[in-house]
Amino acid sequence: MRRVVDIEQWRRLAQDQRDAGRRVGLVPTMGALHRGHQSLVEAARANGDYVIMTIFVNPRQFNDPNDLRAYPRTPEADRDLAKSIGVDALVEPTMAEMWPAYPDPTPTTVSVAGLGDVLEGAGRPGHFDGVASVVTKLAIVTGPSRIYFGEKDFQQLAVVRRMVLDLGLDVEVVGCPIVRDDDGLALSSRNVRLDELARSRALALNRALTFASELDGPASAMRAVMRATMEAADVVVAYAEVVDPTTLQPLDDGATGRARALVAGVVDGVRLIDNRAVELRRGH
Ligand code: PAF
Repeated sequence: MRRVVDIEQWRRLAQDQRDAGRRVGLVPTMGALHRGHQSLVEAARANGDYVIMTIFVNPRQFNDPNDLRAYPRTPEADRDLAKSIGVDALVEPTMAEMWPAYPDPTPTTVSVAGLGDVLEGAGRPGHFDGVASVVTKLAIVTGPSRIYFGEKDFQQLAVVRRMVLDLGLDVEVVGCPIVRDDDGLALSSRNVRLDELARSRALALNRALTFASELDGPASAMRAVMRATMEAADVVVAYAEVVDPTTLQPLDDGATGRARALVAGVVDGVRLIDNRAVELRRGH
């Protein structure tokens, strides 16, 4: 596995692969790697891509300095894992190269208005501007054919798809299924911050989605059951929504067809999210 820090080396490495006729697959991460990240690398390898993984804890997507400080950082373990799962090149860019002005505000911002302002965006102002801006830079430097994201961050995936469409970026966005632990908890780098009790309460997010998917509508009943399930486990509910999977707009009780249920809640100070595809059927 190659390891790269310098932006010019990174750009050249990706260019060399393209010159050699290979497709580059980009797996952007913030480290604290787990099986969810591994599944993205596996998808890229299955597509035959030369896999470039980036690890960069992007301060621009944290609206809360405490959340940024508490974000898990495990560089040594990440390097070992990346190597063992077949990453071809691991890029760990410095802050000076990614955001040269930091900690001053970076004036150049990519903003996906609308999609980036609801759900997670409503509770974390500026979060998706930070995500869209960093993903744009990672994609420009790497020049990948494909870029891989987990569906756990469903809104992030929707924002990036829209950004790629609007900016005409020549890259395929690949969404990969959520990876869960045996008890159903969606894998997240933040899970390491949960003690045993908090973890058992956190299972209410997945349970809420299961209950919602067992109903066939209406959307308001799904919202109510998700909220009640999380509240019963003392999860501080940020939202429990049923939305159109592309526009992320809330659906009303007349809506039918495929929809996405999304939940977010805080357990012992740790903000968690999860989501699931649901089907709304006529007749309510
Ligand atoms: O999903 C993440 O880990 C981050 O939001 C990403 C896509 C690496 C951008 O910093």
